[in-house]
Amino acid sequence: MRAVSEPKSYFVKTFGCQMNVYDSERMGELMEANGHSVAASAEDADIVILNTCHIREKASEKVYSEIGRLKKRAGAKPLVAVAGCVAQAEGDEIVRRAPAVDVVVGPQAYHKLPGLIARAAEKPVETGLPTLEKFAALGPRRRAVPSSFLTIQEGCDKFCTYCVVPYTRGAEVSRPADTVLEEARRLADAGAREIVLLGQNVNAYRHSGVGFADLIGRVAAIDGIARIRYMTSHPADMNDELIAAHGEISELMPFLHLPVQSGSDRILKAMNRSHTADSYLETLTKLRAVRPDIAISGDFIVGFPGETDADFAATLEIVRATGYAQAYSFKYSARPGTPAAAMADQIGDAVMAERLHQLQALINEQQLAFNARAVGASVDVLLERPGKRLGQLIGKTPWLQSVHLDAVGAVAGDVVRTRITAALPNSLAGVREIAEAA
Ligand code: 5AD
Ligand code: SF4
Repeated sequence: MRAVSEPKSYFVKTFGCQMNVYDSERMGELMEANGHSVAASAEDADIVILNTCHIREKASEKVYSEIGRLKKRAGAKPLVAVAGCVAQAEGDEIVRRAPAVDVVVGPQAYHKLPGLIARAAEKPVETGLPTLEKFAALGPRRRAVPSSFLTIQEGCDKFCTYCVVPYTRGAEVSRPADTVLEEARRLADAGAREIVLLGQNVNAYRHSGVGFADLIGRVAAIDGIARIRYMTSHPADMNDELIAAHGEISELMPFLHLPVQSGSDRILKAMNRSHTADSYLETLTKLRAVRPDIAISGDFIVGFPGETDADFAATLEIVRATGYAQAYSFKYSARPGTPAAAMADQIGDAVMAERLHQLQALINEQQLAFNARAVGASVDVLLERPGKRLGQLIGKTPWLQSVHLDAVGAVAGDVVRTRITAALPNSLAGVREIAEAA
């Protein structure tokens, strides 16, 4: 009844992590290859694709409020496709709960989106998990931004007891190095200057004898690629080769997102994290030995089942011992089907809220201190997009700090030498330095 045979406008709304941002990019390219054009917002689109996140209950519930909003939209109702991890985890349950949904498509099946949209009247649900099939089916990249994401690995075999990812994204699979390098070259040709290698467990990358450090070296050798980053990493997979790469590959930026989750060994064990507070700190010591200016970012969960005041104090302690450039922290959220959801001693919300408040205060203090130390320094900034004011651009330092600067004549994609003039908790201000004979 609402089969899409003629060109329509589409909008992809993204929730969750960078992996979803990558998938949304690719869905957009696919829709355009099929003759559809991007709308200014979900409000104006004929087809709305919600690329969803299942990691915490709050994230997961967002999709239903979004569907409710779209249903209430004045005028013609859009075709609604639910993609991403909620689609994978809930499947046809979504159509039962939200009959306005037309298509459900999981994170490994979105290359089939145009066909599914054409069959929307049947309310198709496609949630298979043959991971690498989609990469071959998607074809070459068509567009890039100065800092472009590139998924090289999907899924997770770690089974942390709180986490849904092994169930929504499936087992760990790495892409062949030649397809990764081909995609990186295409991105560089289309204007990417920085490649962010992505995977749920990216540093576990290995394919046909090519390990992760090796792959980074090969991406660094591509013409036009000035910067490389990667995320998200597991401390247990920070091997010596990868640590050495941080000292040897100048394109590899001095910034590492390395989640520790808790500072208490007892809780880390209950989380099935396979590292201890000390082994994490030892890894940081090795990294700092080869790259003294490396900035560390992390993730924390407060209120994991059984977490005592002493366990939480150990978390504050590891934050102090690390000195984070930035970090994300969350209240534990019991996810259906995970082992931790069935553990005794679930922590009440008031305790979690208080611990989160304390942890975030400490992290914010460290983040502001980290940014404040940059004031007066002269750093390379990769310009990514225009700012609000005429002539203003927004870019990133090697340490992933956002910088606002006036750079008349420069464009997104340029790397410009910048003097940092002021620090805020989440960004820096700077002025472009005009190079003397370099
Ligand atoms: N509850 C709260 N936070 C979680 N994370 C993963 N699963 C949960 C959960 N059940 C956090 C972890 C992870 C980040 C992406 O989300 O800190 O590193
Ligand atoms: Fe969310 Fe995890 Fe899925 Fe990313 S992989 S979208 S964080 S549930």
